[in-house]
Amino acid sequence: MKAKAKAHSNIALIKYWGKRSALLNLPAVGSISLTLDSLHTITTVEFIKNLKSDYLILNKKPADERETKRVSSFLNIIRRKADLSLHAEVNSINNFPTAAGLASSASAFAALALAASSAAGLDLSPGELSVLARRGSGSAARSVFGGFVEMKMGKKDDGSDALACQIAAKDYWDLRVLIAVTSQDKKKTGSTDGMTLSKDTSPYYQNWLKTSFDDLKEMRDAIKKRDFQKLGELSEYNCLKMHALALSSRPGLLYWNAVTVEVMRHIKFLRGQGCPVYFTIDAGPQVKAICQPEDVEKIANELEHIRGVQKVIHTSLGNGAELIGDNR
Ligand code: DP6
Repeated sequence: MKAKAKAHSNIALIKYWGKRSALLNLPAVGSISLTLDSLHTITTVEFIKNLKSDYLILNKKPADERETKRVSSFLNIIRRKADLSLHAEVNSINNFPTAAGLASSASAFAALALAASSAAGLDLSPGELSVLARRGSGSAARSVFGGFVEMKMGKKDDGSDALACQIAAKDYWDLRVLIAVTSQDKKKTGSTDGMTLSKDTSPYYQNWLKTSFDDLKEMRDAIKKRDFQKLGELSEYNCLKMHALALSSRPGLLYWNAVTVEVMRHIKFLRGQGCPVYFTIDAGPQVKAICQPEDVEKIANELEHIRGVQKVIHTSLGNGAELIGDNR
């Protein structure tokens, strides 16, 4: 009743922001992402007899009550499916700082979904695993797959068609992402609360939903044609549109700091100099620069020299979630 799994983080080129159901965590829009090789979570789950409650160890320390509760509710879904009543010990390690505002919930819930479902004796298909991971965190549904991934918003009330699928494997197109870390502070408003606020208060919300279909279609097309300029321009456009939605909420959600803005400006400047690089930013202050292998060194060097950039993480595209080690 024990299993260990590894899953990578991902960065959305077309963003998920807004839910059509909070209860089942159903997204109000589809999204498209790149799975990132350098950022991963490894999680071990063991269901143990006589354990009084679930016990979560996060990056070698006992987790706080809020985190343990979120994991426990997720395990309840698996226990119901597997007709199991045992509690579990969960040990989860990220190879990147959790507080750095790098999407840890994506790799965390993808790894947890795979490890916990296997430990409980469930043999889920990748699609079923994606539906399950989505209950933990919407972006986690995408981390089940590697390379280029699309999350479908789905239409059904039970969420069975709100799942991700692979558009293309990582070897299809060698893209690189450079992550400029500008702050290690924990963000004040998490994605879940931010989305609720935008849905309830932003006057732009309906247009965000309406225009998402075209963005998804264009991005699929850019990937199909391996059209880097189109992929980059669309990523920046969709990212800025999501942040405009966040900014237009009441009270406004500003996820950037001064260095974030400086990095965005510098990426535009480099482009003006003929260097093909584009940015995207999630609900946090880090900037992800999307580029091609031949330009990595030059761009990384430029970003590292911007005042206030703490470090630059390099990554190529990664694989989907997988079981590792000796699973019993
Ligand atoms: C800005 O997946 O963290 O990164 O489903 O509420 O856990 P919950 O939200 P989460 O939101 C991710 C938001 C985003 C965009 C994206 O990854 O698509």
